[in-house]
Amino acid sequence: MCKTVDIDWSNLGFSYIKTDLRYVSKWKDGNWDEGTLVEDHHLSISESSTALHYGQQCFEGLKAYRTKSGKIQLFRPNQNAKRINDSCKRVLMPEIPEDKFIDACIQVVKANEHYVPPYGTGATLYLRPFVIGVGDNIGVKPAPEYIFCVFCLPVGPYFKGGMAPVNFTVSQYDRAAPYGTGAAKVGGNYAGSLLSHELAVKKGFADCIYLDPLTHTKIEEVGAANFFGITKDNKFITPKSPSILPSITKYSLLHVAKEYLEMEVAERDVLIDQLDEFKEAGACGTAAVITPIGGIEYKGKLHVFHSKTEVGPVTKKLYDTLYGIQFGDVKAPKGWIVEV
Ligand code: PLP
Ligand code: COI
Repeated sequence: MCKTVDIDWSNLGFSYIKTDLRYVSKWKDGNWDEGTLVEDHHLSISESSTALHYGQQCFEGLKAYRTKSGKIQLFRPNQNAKRINDSCKRVLMPEIPEDKFIDACIQVVKANEHYVPPYGTGATLYLRPFVIGVGDNIGVKPAPEYIFCVFCLPVGPYFKGGMAPVNFTVSQYDRAAPYGTGAAKVGGNYAGSLLSHELAVKKGFADCIYLDPLTHTKIEEVGAANFFGITKDNKFITPKSPSILPSITKYSLLHVAKEYLEMEVAERDVLIDQLDEFKEAGACGTAAVITPIGGIEYKGKLHVFHSKTEVGPVTKKLYDTLYGIQFGDVKAPKGWIVEV
């Protein structure tokens, strides 16, 4: 029998909540230890850890969903396992075997089962796996030791209002360099985005849109989500760039649009001065789910897509299908769902 927690599930935002147990595994002398669940939500690490000085770390984000029948399921955790390893390789950290990664996620969900929001509230349990370089070190080189940790917390919408349109402004700064670490989920990319995010919020926008760092003519992505647009002839289009984070939600939507909604889809350049080609646009990601974009401000003008206040019909269908798959109401493609 589960303990119950006193949470107003339907009004959760995206804020830290300490849950009961987290998974910690340590790497030393070439091997990961078995890992264990711990109560303490603090980590004690050397003052000289590479994660603290040189940003040698990476992280992931995935969710556990409560279905109508009360079961709990993860959405495509093998894709997060693959991506955390791509990030680890990019910053010279040891990889985590896929089964260890998924097992750690399952252990954490099971140990905090009473924090998995009830079906129908729209809330989910967000899992945050991460790897950090630790141990005594001072030169700019890979750490002698590593910690892999997974913690979780119940969350509601990342952007206030959830499925309500929000406006973005184009950032004057870049999120990533042309041949840099943009495709890896490393903390430095996010540190670099804090100022642009704050400037956008101060101007009344939900977040900013980044342009490609080489030519500043093409949409890259949002600070914490990928971009998609629906063309006037109903194609699902999303930017293709080596410096954006390969969003698992975006690849899932490419599949959903093509196979479930029978739309034409493409990953290609999206020019910032040709936003007129889109009748709808949105941001997509694990935290953002699908957030409709009302408008994008560029060079002082707000380009409005479908509407500043109403969700477009294609965005709504994409959302309903993806959400249905994630919560177990729509049949998922083979291998997308892992039961906890
Ligand atoms: N882009 C950035 C910069 C992100 O932080 C995220 C979140 O993970 C995404 C895109 C969306 O990726 P995913 O759909 O895998 O969560
Ligand atoms: C996610 O969607 O999982 C993210 O990592 C986005 C953000 C909270 C950093």
